[in-house]
Amino acid sequence: MADAKPRILIQLDSSPHASVFDAVTAIDAGAERLLQYGGIEPGQVRDLIHGAMFTRGLDDLRSTAVFVGGSSVEAGEQLLEAVKQAFFGPFRVSVLFDASGANTTAAAAVLAAERECGGSLAGVAAAVLGATGPVGRRVARLLCGLGSKVAISSRQLDRATALADALHKQTGARAEPFASGADQAQALAGRAVVIAAGAAGARLLAHDVWSRLDALKTLIDLNAVPPLGVEGVEATDKSKSRGAVKAWGALGLGGLKMKIHKRAIQELFTSNDHVFDAEQVLEIGRRLDQPTPS
Ligand SMILES: NC(=O)c1ccc[n+]([C@@H]2O[C@H](COP(=O)([O-])OP(=O)(O)OC[C@H]3O[C@@H](n4cnc5c(N)ncnc54)[C@H](OP(=O)(O)O)[C@@H]3O)[C@@H](O)[C@H]2O)c1
Repeated sequence: MADAKPRILIQLDSSPHASVFDAVTAIDAGAERLLQYGGIEPGQVRDLIHGAMFTRGLDDLRSTAVFVGGSSVEAGEQLLEAVKQAFFGPFRVSVLFDASGANTTAAAAVLAAERECGGSLAGVAAAVLGATGPVGRRVARLLCGLGSKVAISSRQLDRATALADALHKQTGARAEPFASGADQAQALAGRAVVIAAGAAGARLLAHDVWSRLDALKTLIDLNAVPPLGVEGVEATDKSKSRGAVKAWGALGLGGLKMKIHKRAIQELFTSNDHVFDAEQVLEIGRRLDQPTPS
């Protein structure tokens, strides 16, 4: 049998330079060659992907894969769409979408919450604060898909309502929008899981509010930049007991996020037809305890 071809990862990045963070992570995960393209626009994607599709025989296409990154999730989504459009028939390579780390971060948060809730979030009442950003949107989408009863907040009710409509179209579930300026204690009453996905350096939840939420079991803050998103949760918290609540901070969650990222890179090279977006990345996180695919 011929030797397997080297595992090549093609980085398509909407930022001027392809991300060094994503490159180092890919190499640590086992990618043997990186082809890096920065400042990419959707119109440039087809020819780059054709270069990936037509150089190796079908049996070897699993050894070529694409990573779509960049600091803008919106621009990354357009690149991902252009990548998928370039494929036809069996001519395709696997692709992972993780612009701004949004998918791996959201998957890590949801997986941590799921583990804290005994392995299932179905029927669990949850809330996502700052839900309108790229990470919060994915957290909310994943929770809706898992059958949680989801409340979503924004500083502006109409933004939360627009997100609820989008989530309904995507998942069929009806999330409950609320404005973060409203009575938070009332809006969060009965919630077992609260995930704060607000902007870096934005405080979203006071200790005085969450410490009085009787049903609260898991509290996750994704903001690592002071002031942190949840007062009384430290960035390094990792399933830390804070009163009756298990708390996770952004750095505490970082190890799980990195494991998911690396495992996703490894799984890219198991077939030539994977498309890993938020839902698939969450599934990959669930497989972390299983042997690494060769
Ligand atoms: N650990 C990791 O690897 C990792 C990776 C990616 C992101 N993150 C962190 O995850 C969090 C979410 O990321 P993101 O990119 O989705 O965030 P983002 O888009 O910057 O912000 C999320 C939401 O926060 C709200 N917001 C913005 N400024 C605010 C302010 N001054 N006060 C209160 N709310 C404010 C906005 O919602 P409204 O305008 O609708 O209120 C915004 O849509 C960030 O803290 C980010 O640093 C961590």
